[in-house]
Amino acid sequence: MSSDRSERLRAIRDAVVNLTESPLFEYRRNNNYFPVIGQGDHYADIMFIGEAPGKNEAETGRPFCGASGRVLDELLASIDLNREDVYVTNILKDRPPNNRDPLKNEIELYTPFLEQQIEVIQPKVIATLGRFSMEFILRRFGAYQANQKISQLHGAVIKVRAAYGSAAVVPLFHPAAALYNASQRETLEKDFQVLKKFDAPAQPGTMRLL
Ligand code: URA
Repeated sequence: MSSDRSERLRAIRDAVVNLTESPLFEYRRNNNYFPVIGQGDHYADIMFIGEAPGKNEAETGRPFCGASGRVLDELLASIDLNREDVYVTNILKDRPPNNRDPLKNEIELYTPFLEQQIEVIQPKVIATLGRFSMEFILRRFGAYQANQKISQLHGAVIKVRAAYGSAAVVPLFHPAAALYNASQRETLEKDFQVLKKFDAPAQPGTMRLL
């Protein structure tokens, strides 16, 4: 039986699929790419927000399914979680050419969908992966102070007030940073420990693409 949350997430997907005004829409179509909406438990306590889909993700429609995704899975395993226990999405829902940084107008266009996803899933913890995600989410909740850097905030638990109640934002480095850098990996492993206290796996067997 499909829940209200599933239906609302499907409506978000349909809107992104038909987002012809996106500057990334032609690139998606010309490459037979998929938009990447999100994946995981619709009742997850923890939502991870990355930056944008890469090539693997755009070819499959699944977030974090390449090299960074393997790091994310290992980090989750280090705190006894797996993908089914959390929800994973991105700031941008379409791949930028050559994986370049998201542009301001792209962030403005795609983040209303992210905000809707947050409202539907109502996570207790929003774990941002990388500086773009951190800055957007902290600004969104009025918790960003000018020029704050991820190097200062990673691993912090920042209490915010969402429309559905109180939540915590935990800024984390992007898993890609750990791919070729052992000390970044250690930092990420340490920071992930912060998530442990929030990690009550919600409903078993509810892994969903959307
Ligand atoms: N990097 C991201 O930020 N998101 C993905 O889905 C994959 C790689």
